[in-house]
Amino acid sequence: MNFRRKRIALGVFLLLTWLCFWFSYKIFRNLLYEDYPLTDPDLVNITIAKDSVCQSGTKFAIAIHNAINNTALRQGIRETWGNSSHHGIPVVFIVGLNDNKDVHDLISLEHSTHEDLVVGDFVETYRNLTWKHVISLKWFITYCPSANFLFKFDDDLFVQPKKLVSYIESIENKFEKPNILCDTVLSAETRRNKKSK
Ligand SMILES: *[C@@H]1O[C@H](CO)[C@@H](O)[C@H](O)[C@H]1NC(C)=O
Ligand SMILES: *[C@@H]1O[C@H](CO)[C@@H](O)[C@H](O)[C@H]1NC(C)=O
Ligand SMILES: *[C@@H]1O[C@H](CO)[C@@H](O)[C@H](O)[C@H]1NC(C)=O
Ligand SMILES: *[C@@H]1O[C@H](CO)[C@@H](O)[C@H](O)[C@H]1NC(C)=O
Repeated sequence: MNFRRKRIALGVFLLLTWLCFWFSYKIFRNLLYEDYPLTDPDLVNITIAKDSVCQSGTKFAIAIHNAINNTALRQGIRETWGNSSHHGIPVVFIVGLNDNKDVHDLISLEHSTHEDLVVGDFVETYRNLTWKHVISLKWFITYCPSANFLFKFDDDLFVQPKKLVSYIESIENKFEKPNILCDTVLSAETRRNKKSK
């Protein structure tokens, strides 16, 4: 009996020690690392986008995050899996700005030919990449109001849009409210170390 009580006491002690370490670690971390909150969506806006990309009955749309000067990748995607006339899903490229004037002129020309660029008014840097998500969602809400689903990809993927659509159609009646479907990385934490890229 006595032995059992000791074991319980030891268990409680270990649990308390662990909790104590855990909270100290959390507090210590917050002191060490700065937060980079993504707060106000009005901090970035769309400067260039065509409103004819989505039609009134459009149900799906594809947004591809891509670097403004990476024209070759955009063209590759347009000529392969991103060609809307093959699958009927509107495709846009989400880019930011850089400080090169020539690039901006080229972008205007490219946009007048393909009408598939969505340009955010922020400089493309690693830290600013998060804003591309905000721009994607803003574009989706503003320029594609009839659509229910937005697929977001990076520009280094090869996708089979028709398969994706049939997958979504097979599960869509399970959604009762807005949802984000993605891969889940369990027990990973945001890197808040300022020295980490
Ligand atoms: C973005 O647009 C919103 C709404 O029109 C406006 O309030 C905000 O100031 C704009 N942000 C920038 C950075 O221009
Ligand atoms: C785009 O610009 C970045 C930085 O300005 C540069 O490192 C990169 O090589 C450029 N990429 C292309 C495809 O021109
Ligand atoms: C997309 O496909 C259509 C029909 O096959 C073709 O006419 C068009 O040139 C393609 N677009 C690109 C950018 O390759
Ligand atoms: C992000 O973009 C803004 C607006 O263009 C720019 O002022 C800022 O320097 C960029 N932030 C970073 C961390 O590069």
